Amino acid sequence: MLKDRSIFLTGGGTGLGRSMALHFAMLGARIFLIGRREQPLKEVCDEIQRGGGSAAFATCDVRDYGAVETVAKLAYEQFGRIDTVINNAAGNFMARTEKLTPNAFNAVVGIVLNGTFNCTQVFAKKWIVEKLGGNVLNIVTTYAAANCGSAFVVPSACAKAGVLAMTTSLAVEWAKYHIRLNAIAPGPFPTEGAWSRLMPSKQFEEHAKESHPMKRFGRHEELTSLAAFLLSDMAEYINGECVVIDGGDWLRGAGEFNDLLLIPDAAWENMEAARTKK
Ligand code: HXC
Ligand code: NAP
Repeated sequence: MLKDRSIFLTGGGTGLGRSMALHFAMLGARIFLIGRREQPLKEVCDEIQRGGGSAAFATCDVRDYGAVETVAKLAYEQFGRIDTVINNAAGNFMARTEKLTPNAFNAVVGIVLNGTFNCTQVFAKKWIVEKLGGNVLNIVTTYAAANCGSAFVVPSACAKAGVLAMTTSLAVEWAKYHIRLNAIAPGPFPTEGAWSRLMPSKQFEEHAKESHPMKRFGRHEELTSLAAFLLSDMAEYINGECVVIDGGDWLRGAGEFNDLLLIPDAAWENMEAARTKK
């Protein structure tokens, strides 16, 4: 399905990025992974290569435009060309917004919004010169939608809404260059990265599951299948779209973390103190 495709995937060492990397490699794509830590990227790369696939990696902080240019060059040297960018890297945590430092806000917005712009623009500039087109897939969230947002994850909500606006805007602006941009808005999919930062307790996790219309979280293969379809030639006429994959969760009640309102101030204070101690 993705034979002869070369994909640049951010945050590909863990969680949903790792699952996408393995799935796309199985479908025939060559994968170039980036993230800040070498170890998880290397492990995914090794796993793909052991399975007979083609993969390479480089460490890079997506907030640094120059570093993105450098790894884009490496990716081109590795595979001849990159035809697809997946902006999956993200930062997030739950916090009472009045307690955020400016740096905390900037850290998340920098990774999610600036990072997505950096990777998208660096490759699109090449694609426009090459006249061979390209494909961008942005991983957002259900609370990225206009008029939605979510309490307690405000930097992420602001940044993901920006990424969605970038997706729809560029889908129009760059269609003439045969560059296609789409987004996926996942509901809850268990990953170490998300769960460790966004699930305050086992009890809250149970609450999230119980209040879900399907009473379950997403399975990684459900998301990777959707992503593969959107990247494939079968979806050539889908441009500027955001596909929600959440089992109907957000239709039941927008703002995935609004129920953190149930957490009493004393519990927030304990969590904040625990973080400061580390
Ligand atoms: C308040 C926090 C905080 C927290 C960090 N900060 N964690 N503030 N509450 N829990 C503050 C720090 O004190 C610091 O501000 C600033 O944020 C930057 O923190 P650093 O650790 O120096 O930054 P950095 O190393 O760049 O780390 C970025 C990060 C971190 C976003 C803070 O969490 C990270 O690396 N995340 C990557 C992976 C991730 O977040 N995955 C989850 C994606 S899930 P000061 O002022 O003290 O310097 C997702 C899906 C949502 O997005 C939907 C799920 C259902
Ligand atoms: P994750 O495992 O924590 O993935 C985030 C990845 O981004 C990590 O591999 C991390 O690697 C990388 N990253 C973070 N900051 C980076 C930076 N500055 N530069 C380069 N790479 C960076 O979490 P996940 O749950 O799989 O999330 C993947 C995507 O799905 C994110 O866009 C997230 O917002 C979205 N999403 C997830 C869920 C969910 O329920 N899991 C729901 C909705 C949306 P390093 O730390 O090594 O850099």
